[in-house]
Amino acid sequence: MNRIDALVKLIDRCQCVFDVGSDHALLSISLLSKRKCQHVINIDNKRQPLQIGIKNLKKYHLLSKTTNILNNGLKQITKKTTLKPSYIVCSGLGTKTIISILKTCDKNLLSSKFILLTHKDVDVLRKWLDFHGFVIKKELTFVDNMKFYQVILASFSESKSKTKANSYYYFFGQYNKQICLDSWEKMLHFYKNKIIRNNLHVYNSKYKKMLLIINMQLSKKNKNEN
Ligand SMILES: C[S@@+](CC[C@H](N)C(=O)[O-])C[C@H]1O[C@@H](n2cnc3c(N)ncnc32)[C@H](O)[C@@H]1O
Repeated sequence: MNRIDALVKLIDRCQCVFDVGSDHALLSISLLSKRKCQHVINIDNKRQPLQIGIKNLKKYHLLSKTTNILNNGLKQITKKTTLKPSYIVCSGLGTKTIISILKTCDKNLLSSKFILLTHKDVDVLRKWLDFHGFVIKKELTFVDNMKFYQVILASFSESKSKTKANSYYYFFGQYNKQICLDSWEKMLHFYKNKIIRNNLHVYNSKYKKMLLIINMQLSKKNKNEN
């Protein structure tokens, strides 16, 4: 499964989607071609990717079903469009950028569902969401180009209190395991090998902890099987 397919899979048929960091507009092309939504607002903070996106949309005769906005994340976005999204997607960005985008999200947009795919530090993202009123509803783990990705579907809840989550949950999530056991185990081995190969556990306490957790999980699994 590639990244765009994974994002599309998490989106139910709807009126409008915001794609923050839309780059070449591939998500909007896929969503609109599959008739998963009526309109996509593509947002990018760089002129060039946005222009390439527009060119691609023209090629597929889909430009009229999109609005393409040069903007820094969601900052004051409600001044540039009155459309309300069912989903806000932030994919292919780093955790720091995703968090800074969520921090500037207008209150009126907080009823949307958020689809988040970070390429770095998914544990930091999960923890931030947990501490800032977001609830993770669903996750999808998949491999693309020999790399593991975890996409998060989250929503904001005014009344939500922090969960009693632990490091294990922040590193690996809690939903993936039930959804795809095979990928789950592969993912644990993938991270274990990566940490050991690069000696990350020797230099960085976060990876030391991560390795301990992975070993615990794998030995638990072995015990259950015997
Ligand atoms: C690696 S591409 C990701 C493309 C696509 N979303 C995906 O998942 O494959 C990241 C895009 O996000 C844009 N971007 C980075 N920071 C941004 C921000 N603060 N606001 C809007 N767009 C941003 C970049 O210009 C780039 O086009």
